[in-house]
This record gives sequence, C-alpha cells and structure tokens, in this order.
Amino acid sequence: MDDFQAILDEVMTAVLPVVGQGRVANYIPALAAVDPSRFGMALATLDGQVFGVGDWRTPFSVQSISKVFALALTLARDGDALWRRVGKEPSGNPFNSLVQLEYEQGVPRNPFINAGALVVTDRLLSLTGDSRGLLREFLREESGNASVDFDPVVAASEAEHGHRNSALAHFMASYGNIENPVPRVLEHYFWQCSLRMSCADLARACGFLARHGQGASGRRLLTRSQAKQVNAVMLTCGTYDAAGEFAYRVGLPCKSGVGGGIIAVIPNRCGLCVWSPGLDAHGNSVAGVEALDRFTTLTGLSVF
Ligand code: DON
Repeated sequence: MDDFQAILDEVMTAVLPVVGQGRVANYIPALAAVDPSRFGMALATLDGQVFGVGDWRTPFSVQSISKVFALALTLARDGDALWRRVGKEPSGNPFNSLVQLEYEQGVPRNPFINAGALVVTDRLLSLTGDSRGLLREFLREESGNASVDFDPVVAASEAEHGHRNSALAHFMASYGNIENPVPRVLEHYFWQCSLRMSCADLARACGFLARHGQGASGRRLLTRSQAKQVNAVMLTCGTYDAAGEFAYRVGLPCKSGVGGGIIAVIPNRCGLCVWSPGLDAHGNSVAGVEALDRFTTLTGLSVF
C-alpha cells in the first residue's frame, strides 16, 4: 500500500519553487483577485480515505472542471445520441476558439472546449429542464459535501464578460446545434463554471470515474463503457491544446479549469485534485501540471 500522505508531502516540497509562476486568469475580476501563491492537492481513495497537503480544503472556482460532470450527467441520459451533436477529437486549438466551428458546420470537436460544453449544457437542459441544479446536487452527493454551491459574483461576472461564449452559442444555433434559447443555455453554463469546491471535494467527486461509473454510495451513474469514454476524452481533450504534453508527462485522464484546478483519475485507485491559480499559456495551472507529473513519476501510478 502506498503511503499517499508522504507522497503528497514530497510532491508539495518539490513543486513549491514553481508555485506563483504563470498568470492568474484575469478575464473577470473575481478570478483576477485570487492569491497566486496558493497550492493544494488532495487524493481520495475508492474506499473514502482522503489525503491532502497545502490549501486542500480551500474552495476555489471550478470553472471548466465542471465540464466533466456535465458530460457524465448528459451521457447517462442521452447515451450515444450525444455524440451526434459533439465530437470526441482533440481540437489542437485554445479552449475558447471559434475557428473550427465554421468549417465543421457548428459541431464542436469535443465536449471540453467551450463550444462543446455549451452543446452539452444545452442537451442536459433539454433532457432535464435544469442543468445547473442537477449538477450541484450531483456534486454535493459525490463529494459528500452538502455545502458545495455556486458563486453568484463569479456567475454574474461570467455573464457580463461572456461575449466569446455568447458568440460560440449563437454561431452553433445558426447551424441548428443549440436547441434551447441561447441566453438560457449561457445562463446555465455560467452558473456551472462558478461552482466553488476544494481539492478534497473534487478528488472525491471524480471517484466515480475511477470506480468505472459507480457513484460514492454504490449507485451506478454511468455504464462501465461510458466511464471509459469520459476518461478517454479527458486524456485526449481535457487540457486542450496541451493534452499531448499532459499525456506524455502525467499519463492520466485530467481536466483543468482557469480557476487553477486540475482533476485526475487513476482507474481502480483514486481521484486526485491539485489547485494553484498561476496558469500557463494554455490555461492550465503551472504548479498543478508539475505536481501531477511528480506524483505519477514518484508512484508509477499512471494508465500507461
Ligand atoms: O467559459 C469560460 O471561458 C470559462 N468560464 C471557463 C474556461 C476554462 O476554465 C478553461 N480551462 N482551462
């Protein structure tokens, strides 16, 4: 049995020199105000033990990490039909890019770039009528933290500065790939991005992907095959145009967010989450990438 606490301590010591490097997301004031010197990391085993270092209990803005959970909830209801509306190939472009959408007729490359996540939100809205509420309930249950909630200031700020997402959604609607009114899709998407969770919450919440689709209480959330699909798309698309570098350095399904968080899944073993707000040019946490690289190198725990 690995001594996960000792490993996390060693990882943190090794990465402290790079904590604070990179740039904190500054497209909205609420994110720009976050202290870049924060660092936390948590690991949740499948039997419910949680280990952590640094700021592992501090809630932060989940941002694009929420796209994984929205995808899982949608796939569980829509099955393979979802893949007619969104692809599963890496885009090789930044997460908020518009260019591919025109020559690919409004079908986004994958569910983790913003365009793809908007389609997923749209589909979840059509299927359930309340994408954001469902997501919050799901995350409360899977993280075991009933206080997981949205940040209304971040949600309002996302809407105020949401021209790019708005353009993406309208553009896809012009191809018939958005079913609900665009303002409603955007509203649910912005609330989803504003969720606040800690590394401990997120490490637990992604446990169902390490348990092949089985939730924290034993309930089946995804089929084994769907859990594999989500993990595969995380590996190939979860860190955008840096996914190749991530697979090479970390070797795990990962999903990043511009709040500085990254979740990672080790099938059959554990869920991981690291947080440090300084981002690289791709929108991924500098210290977060370094920590996950160190973790898999030290433990040999990767999918390869
Ligand atoms: O919609 C957006 O652009 C942001 N609210 C979320 C983007 C994001 O987290 C990309 N991740 N690295």
